[in-house]
Order: sequence, then C-alpha cells, then structure tokens
Amino acid sequence: MPAQPPAPTLVPRPTEAAFRPGHFTLDADTALRIGEGAEPAAQLLRTLLAPATGLPLHPSPDGRFTLALDPGSGEPGGGGELGGFGGLGEEGYVLTVDPDAVLLRAAHPTGLLRGIQTVRQLLPPAALSANPQRVTRWLLPCADITDVPRHPWRGAMLDVARHFQPVSYLRRYVDLLALHKISVFHLHLTDDQGWRMPIASHPKLTEIGGHRAESQRGPAGSGTYDGIPHGGAYTRAELTELVRYATARGVTVMPEIEMPGHVRAALAAYPSLGNHPERALDVWTRWGVCDTVLGVHDEVLDFCRGVLDEVMDVFPSPYIHLGGEECPTGEWTHSAAARERAAAEGLSGPEALHGWFLGKVGEHVVRNGRKPVGWAETGAELPPEFTVMTWRDPAHTLTAARRGHSVVNAHHRATYLDYAQSDDPKEPQAQPGAVVDLRAVHDHDPVPEKADAEVAGRVLGTQAQLWTEFVPTPAHIEYLTYPRLCALAERGWSGATDWSDFRSRLDGHMARLDALGVRHHP
Ligand code: ACM
Repeated sequence: MPAQPPAPTLVPRPTEAAFRPGHFTLDADTALRIGEGAEPAAQLLRTLLAPATGLPLHPSPDGRFTLALDPGSGEPGGGGELGGFGGLGEEGYVLTVDPDAVLLRAAHPTGLLRGIQTVRQLLPPAALSANPQRVTRWLLPCADITDVPRHPWRGAMLDVARHFQPVSYLRRYVDLLALHKISVFHLHLTDDQGWRMPIASHPKLTEIGGHRAESQRGPAGSGTYDGIPHGGAYTRAELTELVRYATARGVTVMPEIEMPGHVRAALAAYPSLGNHPERALDVWTRWGVCDTVLGVHDEVLDFCRGVLDEVMDVFPSPYIHLGGEECPTGEWTHSAAARERAAAEGLSGPEALHGWFLGKVGEHVVRNGRKPVGWAETGAELPPEFTVMTWRDPAHTLTAARRGHSVVNAHHRATYLDYAQSDDPKEPQAQPGAVVDLRAVHDHDPVPEKADAEVAGRVLGTQAQLWTEFVPTPAHIEYLTYPRLCALAERGWSGATDWSDFRSRLDGHMARLDALGVRHHP
C-alpha cells in the first residue's frame, strides 16, 4: 500500500495554495530533472528524504520531478521564462504537483530550498523520520502553490554561552529551523558565563573563558550554586562546517560577540582588557547583569577588531551582531582613564562611551563590507549604520525605524522563548517574568501599528530568542522552542493568519515534529 498523503497542513502557511484530487508518486524510479543552478536544491531533497525513504532520486534529463531556476521571476512583474510569474524575490517559489509531473521553480537558489521544505511537508510525516520506513511509494497531493515570505528576517537565537551545546546538536537545531523556513540562525557565542568561539590571536578566550567553576541555581540573586563546572568551545573547523551545513539549508548563521558589556568571560582570560587591568576575575557563575565591562583604551578596540576579523573569516553572514545591551557604565565613571578618553573624544561624559565604543567597532565591520547589529536599549542610542534588534519595548521598534535603522523586532513578551509557555505549576523552571504562550507569539506583528509605509519597510522581520540560563539540555531547548517557533515562523513568513486555522494546521504539523523526534511542549 502506498502511504496516503496527509491533509495539507503546511506551516508556515503558503501565500497561495490550491489542492486538487490526485497525487504524484515518488518511488525508486523517480528521477530529477535538474536545471542549471538547481543542483544544491536537488542534493538537499535527496539528503532530507534518504533516511526514511531511501529514494535515490537520480538525475535525468527526462526526470518527471523538475527543479528549475528562473531568474526573471524574481522581480515584481518579471515574467520569467517559465511562465508569467514575477515577484518571487530571494526566497519565493512556485510548486506545481500533477499526477505525472512535479515542477518546483524559483528566481533564486534559496527559493528552491524553501520549496523543498514544502515538498517535504506535503509528504506523509513518516517521510521525515530518521529511520527507514517500510514504504516504497510516497504520494504528493496535486497542488498549485505560490509562496513568497512577508519578511526576509525570520530568525532564531540560541544562547550557547550560558549553556554550551555540541555542534552535532546545532546541526539538528538548524535542520528544524529550515523545516520552518527560518532564515537566520543567530548564534550567541559569548557572554559573562562563557566564550565559545576559538580566536587564534587570543587562545585564552576559550581555554580560560570557556569554563566556569559552577552555575547559579535558580534565578539571578538566588545565592545558591550547583557546584558543577560547566564549559565547552567549538573548534574553528566545527563552526566552518556548521556554516556550510546551514547554507545548504538556506539558513544564514549570524554570529554574536558581545561588547562592551556581557564580557566577564573575556576579562577572566585577559584582565588587561578591563577597567582594572591588575584585577583577576573569574568567569561569571551568576545570572543577571554583570557590572564589569570592557575598558576603552586602544588595546581593547584593537582586540575587538582582531576578534571580529577571525569571526568574519568563519561566518560569511552579511550581518555581524555586536551585542551592546545591558552595559553598566559605573566602571567608566569611576575610571580616570575612561573619563579622559570621553573628554578626548569630545563626548558629553563617560555614559556616552557606550555609543562611541559600538560606533568604533561598527565602523570596522562596515569597512569589511558587513553590517553591524546591536540590541536596542531605547532604539535611539545606536550609531546609524547599525541594524537594531528591539527587545525591551514595542515602542523602540518605531523609534529605531523612524531614525532610519533597519530593525528586527524581538519584543521579549512575544519572542523570548525562555519564558514559560503556560502558567501550569508543572512547567520547568523558566526565566522569571510573564508567560509567553503560543498565541502571544502567533499574534505578534513585528511591524508597529503606527508605522507608515516607509518606516514599515525598515522592519526586516522578527526573531525568537532562547537565553539558556535555565536550559541546559537539547530536550529542554526543544520543549521551549516547539511549537512556539512554528508560530513565529508563520508570522514572519505568512503575516497575520487566522488563529484557529493556524491551530488546526499545527495539529497536523505536530505529527512531523513527532516523526523527527522533537521533544516539544504537548
Ligand atoms: C537581552 O535580552 N539581553 C537582549
């Protein structure tokens, strides 16, 4: 018996989808007709379907499953050679399934990769399993799908500084992002509690900064510790391979190196980077905001530029995140050297060193052809060349976009997955604060209501955050991430969708997550 196709329950919802009776059958004889530039998409299709289906999907000039690039279809109104559809942009695709043929086309290779994920979701959920299935014929329902994302930036941030995860888990994490057409994997590599990327010019960053003696138990300020050392760091080869793996799935890995605050691990490794070069510090074992920050002497700026040179070597991402949030300025106020630097730079006072510092390092990123990104404290404090991630207050999104920044809306009440997802007392310990339930994520519009068209155009999209103070294991990461990330992916790709429609599609989608072994919230 061939496996029956599921009722179409695509997540995120395609822009336009019409389903027809009948199906196309994928079996051992199905061959791929691969147009110029479509080979990476063909390879991804094979890779994704191989474990469960074992289908070879050989290339053949008369294959009935066609993958084709049609560059002319990228621009609005651009007809393209394959038939009159424009406006597909970087990520859009058109998928037609008939009983005797499948045609997947896009203007850009990334669009084909997005379409492959839709093909995968159209197959029975068992096709997503990691284990061979006793099925030889796989049915795709006949369909006409035209799909273009609402926002280019649909991100997910994972904090591997508070709790390290091996690169094997990061690959699985990327696979799950790609299933949901998430475009950016924001990798939070450094913080007070750990530095996870090796830097050849400063080996102690990981040798010393990659390990802490223990971790605070419970929330910031609790005063109790677990007594268990925690540490880990990637190799450069692992990160390079992660980038390749994510690129093959259409996911950009954006690295984040925190500065000038959230740097305690770096200061433990190199005290001379601080405001008290003679002071020995430990890698922080507490949670919360640490008051030790980088100094503002030339050595520190050179250090940051040197680190970023190595980071940019490994990560081709057009965006490089420099952190920037929660930087107490007390050390600068009390430092004669910092006050002198502020005066020499013509700043109003030591507090202004925050924007000055990020501006200096941001210039270096721009000189290297990349775009600096920073967390907003108000939306009005970062240098103009920064792309701004707003997280504290929805009003900051409007402020930053009106100032001319490109903005990613990461409002904590709708996108922070470290908050509990229900008020059930049986929920595991979560970041103290509000409940962020599935509906809050689904309903969050990244574009502020008061934005005019120009300002709205500067909102690149939205992003989920998972800070991991209380999230040590992959199982816990997946419990907090799914299904809430499905809702964020839908909002970012599809725009506003009907809640009950989303819920019923999500019920079907859960079978896919189960087939993949995702340890999601019930
Ligand atoms: C943040 O929540 N530290 C941006």
